[in-house]
Amino acid sequence: MTVVPPPAATAPSRLIVTGARGQVGREILRLAPGAHAFGHRELDITDPIAVRAVLEPGDTVLNCAAYTAVDQAESDPEAAFACNETGPAVLAAACARAGARLIHLSTDYVFPGTHDHPYDTTDPTGPATVYGRSKLAGEQAVLSLTTQAHVVRTAWVYAATGSDFVTTMLRLERERDTIEVVDDQLGSPTYAADLAAALLELVGRPDAPRLLHATNAGQASWFELARAVFAGAGADPARVHPCDSTAFPRPARRPAYSVLSNQSWVVSGLTPLRDWRVALGDALSNRSG
Ligand SMILES: NC(=O)c1ccc[n+]([C@@H]2O[C@H](COP(=O)([O-])OP(=O)(O)OC[C@H]3O[C@@H](n4cnc5c(N)ncnc54)[C@H](OP(=O)(O)O)[C@@H]3O)[C@@H](O)[C@H]2O)c1
Repeated sequence: MTVVPPPAATAPSRLIVTGARGQVGREILRLAPGAHAFGHRELDITDPIAVRAVLEPGDTVLNCAAYTAVDQAESDPEAAFACNETGPAVLAAACARAGARLIHLSTDYVFPGTHDHPYDTTDPTGPATVYGRSKLAGEQAVLSLTTQAHVVRTAWVYAATGSDFVTTMLRLERERDTIEVVDDQLGSPTYAADLAAALLELVGRPDAPRLLHATNAGQASWFELARAVFAGAGADPARVHPCDSTAFPRPARRPAYSVLSNQSWVVSGLTPLRDWRVALGDALSNRSG
């Protein structure tokens, strides 16, 4: 008697996370522990042979790898462009070749920062910094090299760990009586855990638009964010004083206004991210809990 083998079970599609040891990568792995994680040491996204060796048809790659040293990029544009343009281009070409899908992260810094209302995905870009230009070049490479890709711009990400802005404010609250924080840059503070959940929802929505914005809702200046951190930590927010950017000159000029509109995200039926103040409250209680 001939035994007919059962049809091969369809393998569930794999989620590959590159830059997995960064701030966003770690949060994705926390929410999706079964994902295949590649930190910088395990997979250099600028290495086409290594990238090809990892990919299989049906994979979804969530690229969290980036050169994120915004000030350092001004004096080392080669390094910024290698990681932020060549890297995504290598990933996009390899995904197209393997029949895999790519979700790539980008930034509010692709915009010039001169608006007085939130930037939509249809607004013209115009980065003012090397970092912003390198990230824009990465977006363009991804969108031109594969149709199965989404570019998701986010902004002002914190995980409330390490040395991010929120953790730094908590440290300064302990160390100093008063601090000065810039009040002339407005953006969209975004909790890395909320962003990670949003990206995982997008994994299940290949029909979503190719260019999206994902940040917590609302807007704040760094000063307002710092005051909210102090208040959340039970300290007097009046100990945080406003100043303007001239008090803290940096090699890379920050956009004065880089709030991102969530229009594209909401219109496509993806779950809107909650207000930044509510997210910050959770981030602070998760730290202490
Ligand atoms: N953080 C923010 O406020 C913010 C705002 C807007 C957009 N974004 C975007 O969000 C994404 C994630 O940012 P993040 O905050 O998670 O950044 P992050 O904490 O700096 O993590 C980036 C990771 O990429 C790795 N990496 C660097 N070069 C690589 C390469 N050639 N191959 C593989 N891995 C490499 C780094 O490893 P090593 O450290 O070992 O080099 C690091 O672990 C990035 O695309 C960033 O541009 C971030």
